[in-house]
Amino acid sequence: MVTDHLGGDYLRQALEDDVRAGLTSSPKRLPPKWFYDEAGSELFSRITRLTEYYPTRRELEILRRRAVDVAGLTRADTLVELGSGTSEKTVLLLDALANAGTLRAYTPVDVDAVTLAAAAERLAVRYPGLDVRPVRADFERHLALLPRNGRRLVAFLGGTIGNLPPAAREMFFKELRATLRPGDTLLLGADLVKEPSRLVRAYDDAQGVTAAFNRNVLHVLNRELDAGFEPEAFEHVALWDEDNEWIEMRLRATRPMEVPIRALGLTASFAEGEEMRTEISAKFRRQGVLDELSRAGFAVCRWYTDSAGDFALTLATVVSG
Ligand code: SAH
Ligand code: TRP
Repeated sequence: MVTDHLGGDYLRQALEDDVRAGLTSSPKRLPPKWFYDEAGSELFSRITRLTEYYPTRRELEILRRRAVDVAGLTRADTLVELGSGTSEKTVLLLDALANAGTLRAYTPVDVDAVTLAAAAERLAVRYPGLDVRPVRADFERHLALLPRNGRRLVAFLGGTIGNLPPAAREMFFKELRATLRPGDTLLLGADLVKEPSRLVRAYDDAQGVTAAFNRNVLHVLNRELDAGFEPEAFEHVALWDEDNEWIEMRLRATRPMEVPIRALGLTASFAEGEEMRTEISAKFRRQGVLDELSRAGFAVCRWYTDSAGDFALTLATVVSG
C-alpha cells in the first residue's frame, strides 16, 4: 500500500554516494537521513518521551490549542505530512480537519518504510472514511511526486526543518513552494533559540538514548555497506554552536581506528579524538522563519507558540505569481 520512490537501487546509490563523500571529506560527516532505519525510528520515539526532550510536548501543546484554528483557516481536504514518523501528533490535525468537514485524504511521507506503513495502517483504522496514501520518499528530492490534487495542507512538524543546513533549507522551501498552488498552506514546526544548557540536554540525555540514536547510523553502515565500525568506540557529542545557532551532533573516536567500508572498497582512518559530524538541529527566531519563508514565496498568516515560548508552529500561505 506504500508508494515507494526509494525502491530498487535508489536508496542504495544515495547511501553509497553520501557515505563516500562524507567519509573522504575533512572533517568527516554523515548525512542524517540515514539515522532512520527501523531501530533508529524506535530510538527517536524514545527520545520524544524523554524529560529532557521538550520539543515534542511543546508542539503537542500548540496543536491541542490551535488545531481547530488551523483547520478553519486552511479548510484543507488533503493533509500531506513530511517526515511523518509515527504520525502521533498528526491525529490532532486530522481530528480538527475531520470536524471541520473538509478532510478527505492523508499522505504521510517518510524514508523509513516500516514506521510509515505502521502509522498509515493505524490511521486508516482510526479514520474509516479517510483516503490514507503513504509515500516513501526523500522530502529533499521527491516533493514534485507528492499528491497534486485537492486543497492541500503540508505539515512539517518536529523541528525537522532544522536538520537541514541553511542552503538545503532554502532549496527545500523553494521546491515546496513550486509544487503548491494558491489556497494550499504550510504548517511548519520550528524549535526556538533558548538557553544553551537546555538545548544541549535535549540532545544529550542522561539515559543515553540520544547517544544510542547517534551511534545507530554506524550500525546502518555496518549492515548496509558491510562496514566495520565499532559503534561503542565512538562517543556521542552534542554542542551548541553560538554563531550558527544550531546544535551540532558528532561522533568522536575514542581511539585510533581503521574502519573498512567493504562495499565501497574504502577504508576510513580515524585519529584518537577525531570527530565526525552527524547532524545539526538549527534553532530559530521569529524573524528568521518569516524571512526564510518569504524569500521562498510564502506569506506567514499565523505564528503560534507554546506557553513557555520554546517552540513555534508557523502557518503560511503561498504568495501567488
Ligand atoms: N514528525 C515526527 C518525526 C520527526 S523525526 C515528529 O514530529 O515527531 C524526523 C522524521 O523524518 C523521521 O521519521 C525520519 O525518518 C524522517 N526523515 C528524515 N529525513 C527525511 C528525508 N530526507 N525524507 C523523508 N523523511 C525523512
Ligand atoms: N528533528 C529532531 C530534532 O532536531 C531530530 C533529532 C532529535 C535528532 N534528537 C536527535 C537527530 C539526535 C539526531 C540526533 O530535534
